Amino acid sequence: MKILAIETSCDETAAAVVEDGRKILSSVIASQAEEHKIYGGVVPEIASRRHAESISGVVRKALNDASCQISDLSAIGVTNCPGLIGALLVGVNFAKGLSYASKLPLVPVHHLRSHIAANYLCYPELEPPFLALVVSGGHTHLVGVKDYTSFEVIGQTMDDAAGEALDKAARAMGLPYPGGLNLDKYAEGGNPSAYKFPRPKVDNHPYDFSFSGLKTAAVNMLHKARQKGETLNMIDFAASYQSAVTDCLIDNLFKAVKNFDYNCVALAGGVSANSELRKRAIEICRNSKINLHIPTLDLCGDNAAMAASQAYYEFLSGNIAGLELNASAMMDIV
Ligand code: KG4
Ligand code: ZN
Repeated sequence: MKILAIETSCDETAAAVVEDGRKILSSVIASQAEEHKIYGGVVPEIASRRHAESISGVVRKALNDASCQISDLSAIGVTNCPGLIGALLVGVNFAKGLSYASKLPLVPVHHLRSHIAANYLCYPELEPPFLALVVSGGHTHLVGVKDYTSFEVIGQTMDDAAGEALDKAARAMGLPYPGGLNLDKYAEGGNPSAYKFPRPKVDNHPYDFSFSGLKTAAVNMLHKARQKGETLNMIDFAASYQSAVTDCLIDNLFKAVKNFDYNCVALAGGVSANSELRKRAIEICRNSKINLHIPTLDLCGDNAAMAASQAYYEFLSGNIAGLELNASAMMDIV
């Protein structure tokens, strides 16, 4: 069964065709990163306009690359939540139009579910149940994946997402957008113990995260050094900060592995591209004999192949929308 999916939740206009939820036939991504770089972050209004300009061409290319006609498809999947509302609406309205014209079923996809599904594209043998750490620019969730469309939230951030904490510190350090990616590259070879950062915990909520204090500690350290005219070793600073963010993620993940009945783990979302996080997860899983899954780098960030994979399982479970489908900036994964 071939599904075409459309993803426009942030600053990538993406479309892909995936067969039976697992085999990528095409995956097209038109990134707007260069344009948002000028402003140091995503400008929602610009994102929506660029999506509207790019979407027809991106969808056409996804069909062409897959050597596919609309009539070869079984459904149209679309990310309808969570994300930037104006950006999501472009994808949702385009998918609705396509569904109406082709009479193909319209399948709504939750963006975090689709990040988790990126793992199905990389690991043909992976099936729920497993524990997923979903780390993106807007979300940090520890999720029990009970089945393809059934989830339990075990922990989540109380304030900033891990990606946001990395992006904001990178910006304060003067690194270009996208901050998390550039901080990762910059930290290479740095000493992760050179600067002391807190590892905040949330009282009485062992699986929840809090990154805003950590982010503020980094920004304050930079400001104080500037005021005093001191020079920080920025590579060590980046490595120390990245190590603190990674510690918080890994600690809660492995607390959950110990205390919940999951012996299989998956990372998901843009931050799962982080070299330190990948390294630490690999080490600790190897030592504790846990089966670890991490998407390949091309499938960590936003793309439509992961949305098409999740759309397949949503379709099988009967999650089909009518033309009244709306986009939503916020929505629980469960
Ligand atoms: O999943 P994603 O592409 O978009 C959202 O759904 O938010 O995640 C974007 C986030 C950004 O915060 C970006 O800085 C971060 O992923 N990111 C990274 C890396 N690559 C992307 N963070 C750390 N290290 C990376 N290599
Ligand atoms: Zn994402």
